Amino acid sequence: MRDLAFPLPICMISDLLGIPESEREPLQRWVAVLDSSDQDSSVADLLDVTDEIDNFLTGVVDYKRRSPGEDLISDLLRQQRAGLLTNDELTSMAFLLLVGGHETTVALIGNATLALLMHPEQADGARVDPNMVSQVVEESLRIDSPTQNATWRFPLEPVTIGGQLIQPGDPILVSLLAANRDPAHFADPDTFNLMRSARHIAFGAGPHVCIGAALARLEGQVAVGTVFRRFSELALAVPTEQLRWWPSPIMRGLYSLPVVF
Ligand code: HEM
Repeated sequence: MRDLAFPLPICMISDLLGIPESEREPLQRWVAVLDSSDQDSSVADLLDVTDEIDNFLTGVVDYKRRSPGEDLISDLLRQQRAGLLTNDELTSMAFLLLVGGHETTVALIGNATLALLMHPEQADGARVDPNMVSQVVEESLRIDSPTQNATWRFPLEPVTIGGQLIQPGDPILVSLLAANRDPAHFADPDTFNLMRSARHIAFGAGPHVCIGAALARLEGQVAVGTVFRRFSELALAVPTEQLRWWPSPIMRGLYSLPVVF
């Protein structure tokens, strides 16, 4: 997790946003506080880090305003000049892309690697067949969905779901992970099966479906495919019961994934 799953997505999303390499040093530490993978951080640390990232991104936006480039923040600035975004919306969007584009993909790389380590009979196929790696990533997104719960929803009018009446303003938290293991939709849902064709909703659904799904899939495929091709005898170094998951109600990811090779 420390050596591959964390650095890769932060590098990709920073490249995309146009954050200069010389400025990236604190990002990984900040994001670790936000995504519960820093075990020692407190609520006060969380608030401090949110302010630090906000200040940092405001600085990046100011810099891009003076010297635009071929990156997403410069694109968003062009939209802003066209009157389509306020300044706050621009910084919020950069914040969401940075955080949403990082911890989710960190979790995916760890979870998909673990899934393949637990099914070594599938690993040889994944070493030679990119389609197989893509299936590994999809099945891991389903069975260990990195965003296990979606963000809050609040109905505007009374709605009945599964026989339960929900009043306007009541909070609803949709469990994507439970939906992805719904036995009415997936046969034998707790089994890791690369032959499935039914679609999962690990990236959400509807108007707010994940904007970064294609990037996340690509990063997962490149990371997992490369690791298994590079290390032909990769194996778990500890029993799975010793693996520790982030204690997050939203995210499903591993603190560390010790391997031998
Ligand atoms: C495995 C990796 C990822 C997973 C599992 C994931 C999951 C999700 C989910 C479930 C949602 C919908 C949340 C909801 O409706 O409550 C979402 C939205 C979003 N994701 Fe991702 N995501 C991943 C990677 C990324 C990446 C790489 C980026 C950025 C490049 C990104 C940016 C966003 C943004 C901006 C939204 C909000 C879209 C909107 O509200 O219209 N995500 N993601």
